[in-house]
Amino acid sequence: MTTIPDPRPPSTAPAALRFSGVEVRRGQRTVLSGVDLAIPAGSVTVVLGPSGAGKSTLMHAATGALPLAAGRIEVLGEPLPTRLRPLFALRRRIGVLLQGSGLLSDLSVGENVALPLRAHTRLPEALLQRVVAMKLNAVGLAEAAGLSPQQLSGGMTRRVALARALVLDPPLMLYDEPLTGLDPIACGVILDLIRRLNDTLGLTSVVITHDVEDGLAIADRAVVVANRGIVFDGTPAALRDSRDPLLRQFLDGTPDGPIAFDYAGADRRSTASRPALPPEPAA
Ligand SMILES: Nc1ncnc2c1ncn2[C@@H]1O[C@H](COP(=O)(O)OP(=O)(O)OP(=O)(O)O)[C@@H](O)[C@H]1O
Ligand SMILES: [Mg+2]
Repeated sequence: MTTIPDPRPPSTAPAALRFSGVEVRRGQRTVLSGVDLAIPAGSVTVVLGPSGAGKSTLMHAATGALPLAAGRIEVLGEPLPTRLRPLFALRRRIGVLLQGSGLLSDLSVGENVALPLRAHTRLPEALLQRVVAMKLNAVGLAEAAGLSPQQLSGGMTRRVALARALVLDPPLMLYDEPLTGLDPIACGVILDLIRRLNDTLGLTSVVITHDVEDGLAIADRAVVVANRGIVFDGTPAALRDSRDPLLRQFLDGTPDGPIAFDYAGADRRSTASRPALPPEPAA
């Protein structure tokens, strides 16, 4: 993979998530190769890229759900453990919001949010209920604890899932397509929440999204995944201004260009002809 020179001064914030020379295979395919990436603590980073490029794979690798073929990943300053017990302990410190909400329909909203607390802590019931109420309040659904998930709109459902992902106070939040299926207003609400929760709770957030403009609007940094690696890592402004043909193809949504259509069996494709990116201006 071509590595992109990053002329920006190194961030003074420690990395909450660091990939070094990471390669991930799925089946016989190399999905990501030579990935070097550092996500500064306290930042909101959007991860963009064409479908099938490996964005979710990047996230699953960060939680230790996928083995690495090469390289290493550090999460919150620790190398990703290979043994299960320390891996599970580290995962409690990572809040993950997947594309579907994953709420259990036969439990109330409050009990859905309480699930991780019941599984991982021994909080007395009264305290547990207070924590649940606080998290529902944080996502603007203080009154919803007694409702059933079937009584919620899509946007409300996503906010309950967000409250549940936050309930163990994880310092790192990973969002995989949190906006899918939501109308523009609900998308705005969720993105605004992601930004505000990041800043008020002092989190680090990584948001995979196809919603380029709205995602960039709340982000400190943008990362573009394509052609098996990271093809951009910089500020939203630098991405918008980029004249690189590969990035322009993605940003402008044009079908033909240097981004190859990625599919199982496409491994014979060469990425050697991918153009080098110009240096990004200092942030
Ligand atoms: N469970 C799996 N087994 C084998 N290959 C897989 C599996 N999941 C994904 N892949 C392959 O890995 C590649 C990257 O998939 P990934 O889900 O990371 O893409 P993505 O960038 O998140 O795409 P999207 O934007 O559509 O969610 C895909 O092209 C697919 O061929
Ligand atoms: Mg995905």
